[in-house]
Amino acid sequence: MQDRCPHRYAPLSLGRVVHGDKIQCIYHGLEFDAAGACTLNPHPPGNIPSRAVLKSYPIAEKHKAIWIWMGDREADTARIPDFSVLDNVPEIYTTKRDKMMIKANYELVVDNLLDLSHTCYLHEGILGNADTVDSEITIEHDGDDVIAGRHATNCVPPGMWAMLWPDHPERVDKFSRIRWMAPSTLRLFVGVCDPGKPFETGTGYHAIHMLTPETDRTTHYFFTASRFGVKTTDASLNREIQAKIAKMRRFAFEEQDAPVIEAQQLNIDGSDNQLDPINLSIDVGPVRYKRVLQKMLAAEA
Ligand code: FES
Ligand SMILES: [Fe+2]
Repeated sequence: MQDRCPHRYAPLSLGRVVHGDKIQCIYHGLEFDAAGACTLNPHPPGNIPSRAVLKSYPIAEKHKAIWIWMGDREADTARIPDFSVLDNVPEIYTTKRDKMMIKANYELVVDNLLDLSHTCYLHEGILGNADTVDSEITIEHDGDDVIAGRHATNCVPPGMWAMLWPDHPERVDKFSRIRWMAPSTLRLFVGVCDPGKPFETGTGYHAIHMLTPETDRTTHYFFTASRFGVKTTDASLNREIQAKIAKMRRFAFEEQDAPVIEAQQLNIDGSDNQLDPINLSIDVGPVRYKRVLQKMLAAEA
């Protein structure tokens, strides 16, 4: 619901919920229902001005998130991206549902996430290492989804993966498969397994990234992870691993990704010229999703 009372513009979010499902404005007590209609003016003679209406947006709750339709299109719950990996997972195997604010356009964050190559440099030691640089990147399309994959064979497991697997072998295969679902949500299947073995025999997590643009230059970043192939039944160890995954991921995003992304944004904004970035082989994921996004934006325009 629009967070601005039509009377004197006080934020409705400062108000309170009354009679079960009405919002009462904190300032002079006008009350509004879920559709945004004013249902009560407590001041005599109590008439309700015709313009006392708030804009209200349809929402749906699914996969532990709230989805909102802010555009002109009809709300269609069938188009909510598939995050069923978050449904029915024991609490101990998922991490805190965390959130941060990024001072950059959401596309720079998508570029970062769909680019699996930066983990070897920016997240060196935690999420990637020198062993994982030289692995081929594959791209698939599934409808409008773009999926980037990377399979590093026979490498020393980077810190996060060693931590997840208490008796891990000395060398492992590391797999990553990240799916972009328009316009700004991503699901990463990432982990390690015995060299040459199927991914399913390994351990890792589904990493969830949900980006909600706030403005052209600010993005709400919601993230969590849900484990698969858990290698130990030790509950206290799993509790510890759960906390460490959450902490290491937050560290990687907040201390490593965000400063670079925000600095990129400043560089872009500070340039007088139309910028034309060079592309490397590793940019194929970002290039492909942007094409899909452009097509969708054009169709909507
Ligand atoms: S500003 Fe909301 S009732 Fe006056
Ligand atoms: Fe990153």
